[in-house]
Amino acid sequence: MRRHDVDEAERLSSNAFRSPQVAPRPNGQPEPAYRPEPAGRDEPAAASWRRRLEHLLVHDAGGCWVAEDETGMVGFASSLRRETWWGLSGFFVRGDRQGMGVGHRLLEAALTHSQGAVRGLICSTSDPRAVRRYRAAGFTLHPAMLAYGTVDRSLLPVVDHVREGSASDLDLCDSLDRRTRGAGHGVDHPLILHEHRLVLVDDTTGSGYCYLNRSGGPYLLAASNMRTAQRLFWESLAHTNPDVAVQVRYLSAEQEWAVDVALAARLEIHNQGYLAYRFMKPAAPYVPSVHLM
Ligand SMILES: CC(C)(COP(=O)(O)OP(=O)(O)OC[C@H]1O[C@@H](n2cnc3c(N)ncnc32)[C@H](O)[C@@H]1OP(=O)(O)O)[C@@H](O)C(=O)NCCC(=O)NCCS
Repeated sequence: MRRHDVDEAERLSSNAFRSPQVAPRPNGQPEPAYRPEPAGRDEPAAASWRRRLEHLLVHDAGGCWVAEDETGMVGFASSLRRETWWGLSGFFVRGDRQGMGVGHRLLEAALTHSQGAVRGLICSTSDPRAVRRYRAAGFTLHPAMLAYGTVDRSLLPVVDHVREGSASDLDLCDSLDRRTRGAGHGVDHPLILHEHRLVLVDDTTGSGYCYLNRSGGPYLLAASNMRTAQRLFWESLAHTNPDVAVQVRYLSAEQEWAVDVALAARLEIHNQGYLAYRFMKPAAPYVPSVHLM
């Protein structure tokens, strides 16, 4: 992938979930039904998406690949390696080329960037084609939950000792990453801090950090213990708009502390996607960023 591919990759990823015409399977069987992920980005979200991919091209050029034919870009995969950890950030094939073997080859190319990085994490959609290739690459699939709904302000508890974070806190964030997921986010932290508000707890009861989504809720959260993680989760819910539904994705069974907060806030719990881990036990207490894990 090159810098000039970024705009097209953004458009392709935004449309890939909407694919109306999925190619028939080689054996002629009909496509199994699966619920597509929500799609569509507004312009600020699309601009953030492009900045993240440009960032990966600077730091992980060997992990970013495109597939092309005579019609132009038909798919791409973007991945990142941090310390001894590898993650898949984006993996999309254009609707009219899905199910024809393009994704298989793209993922093989991206996986070459994981050499020397034994651990791995992918926030997988429910697409059975993606799931099949992740398992083939040695990833263990943990079904994930989505917490969804508007937050009733009267249910919010008072959360003490949460403070605003800044660039001077990023070493603490990296140490919490290593403790929970086995590798720091390193160069990703300044990028995420540029896009998201950071809140922190660092006191005698524990340490933790949480980047907030634009509409509230956690974008990425790591903590030294569950109680601290719960305080940060509540704090992130306090920043939601009471009229706008919040979505917290990629909660697996290991994050019961988060499921309990979501239920106490009267959010709905749904099944959606998988957390795919390789050579590591599930990160906890932790809510991954979908893009930079
Ligand atoms: C997921 C995606 C990138 C895969 O790319 P693709 O080119 O469609 O996939 P491939 O044709 O290489 O097929 C991948 C595997 O699924 C199999 N497959 C094809 N159709 C399938 C179906 N309906 N059900 C289950 N498996 C299927 C293929 O046989 C192949 O397995 P194999 O290589 O072991 O034979 C693409 O379908 C896509 O963009 N999906 C929407 C976005 C998405 O969910 N991305 C994943 C982000 S985590």
